[in-house]
Order: sequence, then structure tokens, then C-alpha cells
Amino acid sequence: MHLSPVGISKLCFLLSLALCAFLMLLIPTLQAPARQGDLPPPLPRPQLRPKPAGARRGLGAEVLPPGGAHPNKTTLSQRVTLATSPQTPNERTAAELRSLQGAEDAAAQRRYLGSRSRDPLEPKDIFLAIKTTKKYHKSRLELLFQTWISRAKEQTFIFTDGEDKELRKKPGLNVINTNCSAAHTRQALCCKMSVEYDKFIESQKKWFCHVDDDNYVVLPSLLRLLASYSHTQDVYLGRPSLDHPIEAAERVKSDGSVSVKFWFATGGAGFCISRGLALKMSPWASLGNFITTAEKIRLPDDCTIGYIIEALLEVSMTHTHLFHSHLENLQRLPTNSVLDQVTLSYGGFENRRNVVSVGGVFSLAEDPSRFKTIHCLLYPETEWCPIRSHP
Ligand SMILES: *[C@@H]1O[C@H](CO)[C@@H](O)[C@H](O)[C@H]1NC(C)=O
Ligand SMILES: *[C@@H]1O[C@H](CO)[C@@H](O)[C@H](O)[C@H]1NC(C)=O
Repeated sequence: MHLSPVGISKLCFLLSLALCAFLMLLIPTLQAPARQGDLPPPLPRPQLRPKPAGARRGLGAEVLPPGGAHPNKTTLSQRVTLATSPQTPNERTAAELRSLQGAEDAAAQRRYLGSRSRDPLEPKDIFLAIKTTKKYHKSRLELLFQTWISRAKEQTFIFTDGEDKELRKKPGLNVINTNCSAAHTRQALCCKMSVEYDKFIESQKKWFCHVDDDNYVVLPSLLRLLASYSHTQDVYLGRPSLDHPIEAAERVKSDGSVSVKFWFATGGAGFCISRGLALKMSPWASLGNFITTAEKIRLPDDCTIGYIIEALLEVSMTHTHLFHSHLENLQRLPTNSVLDQVTLSYGGFENRRNVVSVGGVFSLAEDPSRFKTIHCLLYPETEWCPIRSHP
């Protein structure tokens, strides 16, 4: 075919037009996969730092030196200590602290609503599974009923291994007898996790969170954390129990001759999984498959969760240090950050004194786990708390 120079330039022009049109068509599709593949970065966590005292009293805003606190500014930690010092229970300070946090929560909620969602996360959207065993119904669960569970009865599900008439008598509690063995073996623990998973899928709730019977769940912090992700995406949130991924023989996708490395969230600190991700786990987790998977890789329940998510589904765990187990040194947690954490714990077999350092409200003798103290700082209006916002 012969083309004149004019013909060639016409052709070039047409070709470049077509290329432009093609590129413009591509723009939305180029953006979409990036959004699906990556988790949205969590919204900035609202800080529970009190505003300068002067600002709150209406004396006008103060400008703080960058990086450094105003020399006369009371820090939250000082406030907590003040509010809870056993000698001087200071009602106003505790009430102020609470209302400040309320204001911050409301502001964070507004920011969240304004910025992204038509479908805000509500407490009822979370399925909170507590793993326990019959011998701890009295010694551990009672404390949780008295404290955080009392604020989240509808969405809390207690997975245990023995019938307990006393427990059944408590109004409004969801108690599930898994009929699993009460032994602290891998099989028994995986059996319970398997029932937890199935009950969550049945529940239609947006988030699955698993905790142990020695965890305090700071519900406002949990809600805030989960609200910064989408339950339809693949989200696995928890605290890595090691500083490196675990390595295991790959016995599900291959014959065990190759090994696989993956992170897992330590079960003792609690972890959360979005519904979107939980549904994808189904082939290895639902209706007893969880037990089969755990048997194949010969690892405990929490490792098996990590294995299914990271190794089989190739979804990365989101590491967070807001979850805490009794295996950590809990005293090291800064006092001013305790109420911002998502889960807390206490004790442990080796160290009964391993508790978070929040002072006051109750003495160590009255409240060895510190859970009652934490609860009263979060909800001072609770009837049994000595400090009330409305005396
Ligand atoms: C700040 O604290 C110092 C020492 O406690 C005190 O002398 C000073 O008057 C305080 N300043 C203000 C503005 O409150
Ligand atoms: C455990 O056994 C009881 C009695 O047989 C039964 O009603 C219950 O559904 C079982 N629990 C589970 C989780 O299967």
C-alpha cells in the first residue's frame, strides 16, 4: 500500500487520538486494582491527649512549643494518677478526663463519618468471642462480667467446654458449650476455635474478634480501631507474638518437603478478622476443617489462623501493638496510654504482679488485675465505682 506524506501524518494524528482515548479509558481501571489490593491506611488514631487546661476553661487557646509540652500542662498520665490516687480520689478530675475522652471520641466519629462512610461501625457489628474453660468460670469470667462484658453483652459470646447452670442463669449472656475437651491441648483449643469461627459466620456480624478469659477489652478503642478499616476487605489485626515470622512445613499445599514462613497474631492478646477475610478462610476453617488444617501443620490454634491467612490466602497480617497478653511486661505500658489500648491482660502463672500500672480507684489488694480500676476510669458512672461523674 502506498501512502502520501499527508496520508501518513493523518494516520499518525488518528492513531494518537485513539491512543489518548484508550489511555483515558484506562485511568479508572488503573486506579481500581490498587484500591482492592492494598488495605486503606487506617485513619489517624485520635489522640486522647487533653487540651491545655486554659483552653478548656475558655481562657483562649494556647500555642504549645512544637514537640514539647507546655511546662504547666498536666499530662494525661498525671491526670490518671491524680484521678485515681488512693489518698485523694478527685471526682472532678476523673469526670473531666471522661468527658474529654467522650469529646475526642465524638470528634473522631464525626471525622470518620464525614470522611468516608455511609455505614458507620456500631458495637453490635462486632462478634466478640471469649475462649474459656469450665474451671475459670468463677475465677476469671466473673471479673469480666462485672467489667467490660457488662457493656457488650449482646455481642459477646463465651465459648467454654462444660455445662454450668450458674452461668446459664445469668441474663443476656451468650454461652456456647463447644463440647470440646477441657484439656489444654492443641486439639482441644483448635476444637474451640473451630466452633468460634462457625458461630461468627452464622452471626452475620462484620468483625470477628477473639480474646481470652484474662483479657480486658477497651470497647471504645476496639470500635475506633476497627472503624478505620473496612470489614469487606481482607483485614487480620493482632499482635505478633514473635519478632520474626514462624516457619513451618507446608503440608496443606504440598507434601511437607518445603517450608513456609508466616506471621501470626498471638491468641492471648486477642485478634480481629474482617468478615470479608473470614469468608475466604472457609475451605480451611469451617465445619471442622479448622481442626483438620491444624492437625496437618501440627500447630496451635492461633498459629493455624495465621497460617490460613498468610500462607494459604497470602493476606498480610496488620501488626498492632494495641493488643496485650500476659506474656508481656504489662507494667512497662505507659500509664497515660492504658485506656487507649484495645486489649489488656494480667498476671500469668509465673508472675501475679504483672499488671498494667494504673493507680488509685482500687488498691492492688482490692483489684489485683487492675481491671476494675480501668473499668471505673472508662465508665465512672458504673454503680460500684467509687468515683461518679454525677454524685
Ligand atoms: C507554672 O509552674 C511554675 C512552677 O510550678 C509556676 O511558678 C508558674 O507560676 C506556673 N505558670 C503558670 C502560667 O501557671
Ligand atoms: C454440645 O452438646 C449439646 C448437647 O448434646 C448440644 O445441644 C450443643 O449444640 C452442642 N454444642 C455444639 C457447639 O455443637
